[in-house]
Amino acid sequence: MTKRTVYNHVARLYDLLDLPFEYGRYRPLRRAIWRDIEGRVLDAGVGTGRNMPFYPVGEKVTGIDLSPAMLVRAGARRDRLKMGKVDLHEMDVLETTFPDAHFDVIVSTFLFCVLDDSLQLGALQELNRICKPDGEIRILEYAYSNRPFKRFIMALWAPWVKFMYGATFNRQTEQYADEAGLELVEEQFLYQDIIKMLVLKPKSR
Ligand SMILES: C[S@@+](CC[C@H](N)C(=O)[O-])C[C@H]1O[C@@H](n2cnc3c(N)ncnc32)[C@H](O)[C@@H]1O
Repeated sequence: MTKRTVYNHVARLYDLLDLPFEYGRYRPLRRAIWRDIEGRVLDAGVGTGRNMPFYPVGEKVTGIDLSPAMLVRAGARRDRLKMGKVDLHEMDVLETTFPDAHFDVIVSTFLFCVLDDSLQLGALQELNRICKPDGEIRILEYAYSNRPFKRFIMALWAPWVKFMYGATFNRQTEQYADEAGLELVEEQFLYQDIIKMLVLKPKSR
């Protein structure tokens, strides 16, 4: 099943299934990753628009996603929150239609957990292409805990997460940064040792 199909199926239930995590875990992390952002901004893999309440006020934000059904929900959230300045487009992060050096900041929450290992480099290269030379890419993603019990619990969850969301906990996106022409300027766990933020900048070109 393609990721578009997976998310078209799960879209109707996505917010409901994620509710305990959204309110028990994700909201402070979203606030943190969206802090101090100015300029032209991309939310890559916007999903149902869970980041919208944390978008910088007055800035132009564009959201892209592969799944039309997720985008319908993002559109409804944008309207509910009266965020008229948010543009939403159906687009693959591997092959966007934006010009080179278009965005000041690109934020991507839990997209790279979903992208297969074989797509991670290509996705980072594309984000590098559309990021301004002095811009920044911020990524939030899961990692397996180093604590044995927590790791065991995560391993129990893993088949469900794979089945429902096509996602895994062990992506390690940072390993592709250098080859994608990006410098990893920050790597910080924001929730225990299982959700980390990566901050990447284009290397001088
Ligand atoms: C786990 S959800 C995260 C959604 C949202 N960012 C959040 O934090 O709730 C991953 C999203 O990435 C989208 N996605 C998967 N592959 C993609 C691709 N190649 N290009 C763009 N979006 C993609 C899915 O459709 C889904 O909406």
